[in-house]
Amino acid sequence: MEIPLDRDKPVPLARQIQAHLERLIAEGLLGPGVKLPATRELARRLRVNRATVALAYEELIAAGLAHAHVGQGTFVAGGPMTGAMAAPASPAPIDWAALLSRGARIAAADEERLRGLGTANGGSATISFAGGMPDSALFPTDAFRRVLNQVVRAEGAALLQYSPVGGYGPLRRYLAGYLLRFGIEARAEDILIVNGAQQGFNLIARTLLDPGDVVAIEQPTYTGAMQGFRACGARLLPVEWDAAGPRPDVFQRLCERQAPKLFYCQSSGHNPTGLTIEPETGRRLVTAATRHQVPIVEDGFDGSLYYGARAGTPLKAADRAGIVIHIGTFSKILFPGLRLGWLVAPPPLVERLQAAKQLADLHTSALLQAAVHRFCERRLLERHVTRVTAEYARRRTLLLAALRRRMPEGVSWTEPHGGFSLLLTLPIGLTATALLPTAVERGVAFTPGPAFFIDGGGERTLRLAFSSVAAARIDEGVRRLAEAIKAARRQPRPRRTEHEMVPVV
Ligand SMILES: Cc1ncc(COP(=O)(O)O)c(C=O)c1O
Repeated sequence: MEIPLDRDKPVPLARQIQAHLERLIAEGLLGPGVKLPATRELARRLRVNRATVALAYEELIAAGLAHAHVGQGTFVAGGPMTGAMAAPASPAPIDWAALLSRGARIAAADEERLRGLGTANGGSATISFAGGMPDSALFPTDAFRRVLNQVVRAEGAALLQYSPVGGYGPLRRYLAGYLLRFGIEARAEDILIVNGAQQGFNLIARTLLDPGDVVAIEQPTYTGAMQGFRACGARLLPVEWDAAGPRPDVFQRLCERQAPKLFYCQSSGHNPTGLTIEPETGRRLVTAATRHQVPIVEDGFDGSLYYGARAGTPLKAADRAGIVIHIGTFSKILFPGLRLGWLVAPPPLVERLQAAKQLADLHTSALLQAAVHRFCERRLLERHVTRVTAEYARRRTLLLAALRRRMPEGVSWTEPHGGFSLLLTLPIGLTATALLPTAVERGVAFTPGPAFFIDGGGERTLRLAFSSVAAARIDEGVRRLAEAIKAARRQPRPRRTEHEMVPVV
């Protein structure tokens, strides 16, 4: 601890030390319970007599700002502020809101909008269909700990050094083979390892967008993608989904009239509907994009999690011109906490994306990349995906059966082919935001649909994520939701309550 002492001042040194510590305590820089330096040590560092420091500490103790424990030292006291702790007059606070960039202000407005939707998980007794994340109870934590130990032992020193920005070579080569299973032909050099799909969106936005540019975006869509593009100053224009995917005729028209800089969509396990783009629709989207030179950002985030006979076909597989940028992630098929994903892009663009990544964070953790690579190479990922897909498929089936059995007339929903969720549409006259408080009161939660629509459409829709709800609780959750809908229908009453915010994933 450095305490500036003015030895020419008429104020005694002990008093100067005391005043300095009082200010640190008052401003919360030394919090309750923090141990003050030993008197001997502080005296040595400040080049004062030990008794001088002891005197300052005694004054703090006398003022109730600190207390001494025999043999242990002197600690900052907890409890309410006393007069003696009041901070000295400080300069006017900085007006950070006025200093924010346009992008940061847009992001703040978006956050505010989502908070207004009251995305809620409720308490622990609540059955929450709100979180679109994998179930941590199914995580292969022990197996991952073992591969992590192995790579630290085998290549620890190299992996803990700075690494190439493009990614860990063996993982890029593994991914090239993995993507072939889905019909995507990519060389290891065309693959850039990123900190999750979310970083992929941001690098693409930074590389291809200028403020005011138009971005065509599927609707409904993943909230994080919407926020990412919007925060770069893009103007978002929707391409609505029908049962086969984003409508190619709408996309085509948009290309002709608005010259979008890119088009974002998810090809399989779509969040929030769980639907997949049908091959013919995909081909038409790629053809239109190629003709108008509008890059497609394909978020293929969990192509392995599908519940039908075979996986959907990524748009990238039908891309002869190199107009599709494909993004993938380990967040859904393994652990979101890894923050590990990848981008596939044509060579001239991948170079620019790599440069943007270098500026953003130099590279993704090589240690985690190597551990994931070993996990994949040992076929542990395949085994894990098979196991969790069976479990998520079971939950999906239970959810669909419960909806069929319990939902009142006028309610409809999508039947997910993949992913973690479905989108439910309420009867005319009800809105998801108004329903949420009633539902939470009855012990069930969901994400209101407007979180997935540009500027608040989709009021009658809500997302039910089944991935994190134990199979045994699904039917009861749907029963509660059906009751809430029936009650709201009998007595429609718009109301709002405060809920703890959770990120919409
Ligand atoms: C469709 C979609 N894309 C991307 C992401 C974010 O992925 P990551 O964790 O890889 O950043 C999510 C997270 O839920 C998502 O639902």
